[in-house]
Amino acid sequence: MSFRIQPQPPARPNRCQLFGPGSRPAIFEKMAASAADVINLDLEDSVSPSDKDSARANIIEATRDIDWGAKTLSVRINGLDTPYWYRDVVDLLEKAGPRLDMIMIPKVGCAADVYAVDALATAVERATGRETPIAFEVIIESAAGIAHVEEIAAASPRLEAMSLGAADFAASMGMQTTGIGGTQENYYMLHDGAKHWSDPWHWAQAAIVAACRTHGVLPVDGPFGDFSDDAGFRAQAFRSATLGMVGKWAIHPKQVALANEVFTPSEAAVAEAREILAAMEEAKARGEGATVYNGRLVDIASIKQAEVVVRQAEMIAAK
Ligand code: COA
Ligand code: MG
Repeated sequence: MSFRIQPQPPARPNRCQLFGPGSRPAIFEKMAASAADVINLDLEDSVSPSDKDSARANIIEATRDIDWGAKTLSVRINGLDTPYWYRDVVDLLEKAGPRLDMIMIPKVGCAADVYAVDALATAVERATGRETPIAFEVIIESAAGIAHVEEIAAASPRLEAMSLGAADFAASMGMQTTGIGGTQENYYMLHDGAKHWSDPWHWAQAAIVAACRTHGVLPVDGPFGDFSDDAGFRAQAFRSATLGMVGKWAIHPKQVALANEVFTPSEAAVAEAREILAAMEEAKARGEGATVYNGRLVDIASIKQAEVVVRQAEMIAAK
């Protein structure tokens, strides 16, 4: 371990973030009643320019009037290249209820983007006397965002989570795809004439996970656009979980159960992790740092791996 100990991310479940347009208040109660850990009311790309003001008003009212239970409540503001974002921040912090937990900043390209929103939020909070500082989450969805991902992860103590936004990311990178996440037909290797598909999102996800884990931020996989393809969603989510991400967005309510299933450690995985911890306890008692569990090596690093699974399961169970 480096002399600098790796910080823990916020200890709250973030298995699924359910999105809904701020211009569609009829679904807000349904979102609140869903099994998602995080609710993202949207002011950005699912809201047309003519609806920005009314969507903001809908969301502000909903922060006060709807019972959001134990969910983390987040609002996605407009990007810093638009004329809307400052009004989003000011109105949310001046008028939304204390129930609002978080602001999601889209299309972040550098640490200064986060700094700018932090400076504005801090000023409004001081002026209004808001008791709990609003938390931030960001979306990495541009070439600049991924190029500066580590400085972004370190940009503000408010930052709790970071998502990969596959659609805008693909557009910014000039990727030849219109799919939102998942397998891409033309991204394959040939072996003995047979195609083997690879994962074009892998490197960006891994870069996000590394930046997040360095700075105690939750890494999250963003949207999977084809909500008719449950198997495709599940496959994408399993890859993300394997890489260290803690959850995934749902852009349709039917994706919530899929995300919760994948990002909740299975009973079998938790049982195995506990057995590894027990095997290592016994090894330690014998003065050994390594031992054999089910025919494979486990050592002191295995304790940390197993603890990741157990800690995640216990945190979710305590919810
Ligand atoms: N959250 C909660 N409930 C939702 C919902 C959501 N995001 N989207 C739809 N529903 C509800 C519908 O109201 C409907 O409820 P009912 O059975 O009581 O009538 C039910 O779920 C089934 O909806 P369906 O008809 O399949 O979908 P739709 O055509 O109404 O909406 C979308 C489909 C994709 C337009 C909609 O889900 C949506 O806007 N998703 C979020 C988009 C977004 O926020 N994008 C930005 C982030 S990428
Ligand atoms: Mg986007």
